[in-house]
Amino acid sequence: MKHIDSKTHTRGQSTYVDDIPLVEGTLFGAVFDSPSAAGSIIDLNIESALQMPGVVAILTWSDVPGVNEIGNIFPDEPLLAEGSVHYMGQPVALILAETESQARAARAHIKIEIAEEKPIVDARAARAAGQLIHPPRTFQLGDTEKAWAQCAHIFEGRAESGGQEHLYIETQGAYAIPGEYGGVKLFSSTQGPTQVQKATSRALGLPMHLIEVDVARLGGGFGGKEDQATPWAVLAAMGALSTGKPVKLVLHRMDDMRMTGKRHPYDSDFKIGLAKDLSIVAFQVQFHQNAGAVADLSPAVLERTLFHCTNSYSIPNVLATAWPCRTNLPPNTAFRGFGGPQGMFVMESAISTAAEALGVHPSVIQKKNLLQEGSQFPYGQKASQCHAEHCWQEAEEAYQLEALRSEIQAFNEKSPLVKKGYSLMPICFGISFTKTALNQASALAHIYLDGSLGFSTGAVEMGQGVNTKLVQVVEKTLSLRRAKIKVETTNTTRAANTSPTAASAGADLNGKALEKACLALRERLLRVASSLLKKPQDQLTLKNETVYCQGQASQLHWEDLVAAAWERRINLSQQSHYATPTLHFNSETNRGEPFAYHVYGTAITTASVDLVRGTYTVDKVQVVHDFGESMNPVIDRGQTEGGIVQGIGWMTMEEVIYNEKGRLLTNALSTYKVPDIYAVPKTLDIKFLKVEGHSLAIMKSKAVGEPPLMYGIGAYFAIRNAIRAAVPQKPMAYSAPMTPEKTLLALYGPIHQEQSQGLSEKAIN
Ligand code: MTE
Ligand code: HPA
Ligand code: MOS
Repeated sequence: MKHIDSKTHTRGQSTYVDDIPLVEGTLFGAVFDSPSAAGSIIDLNIESALQMPGVVAILTWSDVPGVNEIGNIFPDEPLLAEGSVHYMGQPVALILAETESQARAARAHIKIEIAEEKPIVDARAARAAGQLIHPPRTFQLGDTEKAWAQCAHIFEGRAESGGQEHLYIETQGAYAIPGEYGGVKLFSSTQGPTQVQKATSRALGLPMHLIEVDVARLGGGFGGKEDQATPWAVLAAMGALSTGKPVKLVLHRMDDMRMTGKRHPYDSDFKIGLAKDLSIVAFQVQFHQNAGAVADLSPAVLERTLFHCTNSYSIPNVLATAWPCRTNLPPNTAFRGFGGPQGMFVMESAISTAAEALGVHPSVIQKKNLLQEGSQFPYGQKASQCHAEHCWQEAEEAYQLEALRSEIQAFNEKSPLVKKGYSLMPICFGISFTKTALNQASALAHIYLDGSLGFSTGAVEMGQGVNTKLVQVVEKTLSLRRAKIKVETTNTTRAANTSPTAASAGADLNGKALEKACLALRERLLRVASSLLKKPQDQLTLKNETVYCQGQASQLHWEDLVAAAWERRINLSQQSHYATPTLHFNSETNRGEPFAYHVYGTAITTASVDLVRGTYTVDKVQVVHDFGESMNPVIDRGQTEGGIVQGIGWMTMEEVIYNEKGRLLTNALSTYKVPDIYAVPKTLDIKFLKVEGHSLAIMKSKAVGEPPLMYGIGAYFAIRNAIRAAVPQKPMAYSAPMTPEKTLLALYGPIHQEQSQGLSEKAIN
């Protein structure tokens, strides 16, 4: 089944916030943001801006009717700056005008005087200054201190990975329409409608029931709209209530890039110990997360880094500490993988460090240490239905790894100016929100008198195809054709108290809730069929929109059955709730079973590096992936391809740069390079591992949204290994993204003291 939006997408008929027909009298908003990264506000002058044509109002923190606070995990984030500013791009005032260009023109006339302080932009510097979002967290398994004594080889090093701009095609935005009883209806491009409703309620001092949030779909979110769609929606609502007029606030691209946070950069130190047979005995790591100026989702992202710090490997002794460092950058936030990729990059860097020093290909160490059934993760959960080795073996065989090895070796021997390299990248990603309470969802289904059905859930469609999978759930449980099924918008009056669509769990959670609702309706209708046909209910099923009795079609069709049920005054609507069973996690002891299941896979990546120019191509990515029993192979393949390319972008070309003043230099698509069609590997093979699916996955089809992104890490190491073919001994940092500039420096640049230390073998037994 195709993505249900494919036709309207390609015809430009799908609607987004910016397409909603405007109500008469609508005002347009523009946000005035801080020009400094740190300091106290001495004066804010809006007088001349207020005189500009079309300007209706300019709102600041003192106009916030409720609490000037939108923090989600911690209350540390003002809606509008009050007294001080903490990052460039921080919202200070909202300008409302009759047209958008008038609002933007007036913005240039606001004057702000700030007593600037020296900003901190670097995570390690923040730690040194004691600037933390919360105290560090530590996950521990076994005893690393004792374990070092058992190691034949010990290596230390440092690994850095950079930020990443979400670059959803639809920028952040909201449209607020004031309603009766002092309430407001909000159309928001958010992954978390309930979060928007809650934050609006607090800031406006209104009960949640007066705030209705509606989401048709997003033009991409990628985590960037899990928390950071909120300020724009709250501001639009505040503008609407303060003026009594509808307010539309949609960010322009450069405003969006400047004002919103990105993937967290990490700067980490590791120590890895191996036995003679290359099994990893101990792993120690300190993560420095660059959280930005406020908490946002950083504490949860940090936790997911710790959960994934050993990637797909079984390591008996682990000591992992993570520092959430407060800096004067826009609050960094959720981004596909949610801290997991950052953790896995450090693990892979540690293995690569050991491999290079020991003169083996990293895949030798990787393969030796793959998770097995029953292996324990550093948080106590045991791997079950573990397919780590299975995926690796399949990949080795299906893609003829041995032949690839000799091919690359032969090529490199003959090729002086271009070198090739390959890498293996196994992944293991935990599925469920790590905050157990978020693992719940609800669905509401109505069967109408003509037999058509409409349903609502808490799931937000952002391109990932969750609505298509939900339609498939209805098709399967009620035997209805696609044409009879309508997916309603995601709306807080129909699905209340929802979790954001995130953690790759949108289809599992909402799909299970919808399945429950459909099964309840089915049961009710079959009871009616049983009395109409005078057959025992357990002999009846629904197939092809007809009641079947012991495999034989009856004369009773769906429409007639629905009409008969109505005549008998049977409820044709159902609301259902689902909560993932089995989950528990104690965040004091850092022990429990936080994940419903894990997703596994292995990618083999080949890259070529041009030794003259420092440019490279990622030639081939060949994957064996555990989809469970995919309910929609077309969508799942699309998610995998998209995730891989986004991961390659993060690891190779997307470079977020702030200067020492905290100013974003890569603030437009002319200075920030994202993958285009030429960056997509010429060969991108995805094989579906043949396995029984997992019962906690929707229709046994495993979550697919985030895990494939981490295959992109393989591109970094394939390029590194190609560079290694040219300069086998030269010290070389682990610093992503591996841009062409860094490639040239790795080949010909000066050697830094720090790097040469990173490579040296220490403390041999
Ligand atoms: N795919 C598209 N096309 N657009 C998106 O914004 N977001 C990703 C992933 N795939 C995203 C996407 C992220 S970050 C997550 S968590 C999941 O989709 C969310 O959807 P799901 O839970 O339904 O998989
Ligand atoms: N993943 C994604 N988003 C989240 C999570 C998570 O584990 N926890 C809170 N928001
Ligand atoms: Mo995805 S980063 O969990 O929205």
